[in-house]
Amino acid sequence: MSGAASPIRSTEPVRNTIVAIDGPAGAGKSTLARHLARHFGLLNLETGAMYRAFALKALRAAIPLDDGRALERLSAETTIRLEPGEEENRVLLDGEDVTGFLRNPAVTDAASRVSIFPGVRAWMVGLQQKLGARGGIVMEGRDIGTVVFPQAPVKIFLDAAPEVRSQRRFEQLGQSGRAHAIEPQTGAPGDRSSPLEREEILRELHARDERDRNRADSPLRPAPDAVLLDSTGMTLEEAVRAAIAIVAAKLASLQPF
Ligand code: DC
Repeated sequence: MSGAASPIRSTEPVRNTIVAIDGPAGAGKSTLARHLARHFGLLNLETGAMYRAFALKALRAAIPLDDGRALERLSAETTIRLEPGEEENRVLLDGEDVTGFLRNPAVTDAASRVSIFPGVRAWMVGLQQKLGARGGIVMEGRDIGTVVFPQAPVKIFLDAAPEVRSQRRFEQLGQSGRAHAIEPQTGAPGDRSSPLEREEILRELHARDERDRNRADSPLRPAPDAVLLDSTGMTLEEAVRAAIAIVAAKLASLQPF
């Protein structure tokens, strides 16, 4: 660092920065990422939506979700684009806007299953690194601070007790009424979902936690240099305020004087 202090603080580190947010399902990552992106003028990129889009394609193509080689082959003929939007990312799967299909419980479950395969992950990580290469992003997922952008200057690992996470999910689904079908017109048989019951959501969350944390490739783990934020006893506003403070402090420490 040079000894001659400039009175003007550069905004470069803020504009080019990468904020990595990782954590388990239902911890509130998407909401937090959206608020952080807005607050700091960054793009918000949801990597879970990319795994969901790929899972949707596998479901539609009736590819067995435990056939890693078939899934890898499928990935080679798939394009996924993520377009940052005001509320959520718009997801284009082979050019089709599939955003409205990604919250279906079958897609949610399938996303966690297809994401255990190293070939699928390597492809996704490559896409995500390309998407974020220019910086200026908040990227959220499971492995952003550990694998996708291990050099990210700001990392938050957002957690909450399973009961709290499933309660939030329950309220979320209640608000959106019903989960969506996976096909534009017809829906897949059995997927015209009724609102999920509380216990079912808790079960689903546990199953996903198990898979996401225990898979051999890139299991969900906090990066050694991540700041842990446990939102169990917090309201959304409190969690957002805490996260803003974490990011602001980190960015201030990066600013050249
Ligand atoms: O964040 P989400 O709930 O939309 O993610 C759906 C699934 O995708 C999640 O259960 C595991 C997988 N995923 C992943 O393996 N790595 C990421 N970076 C993001 C999601």
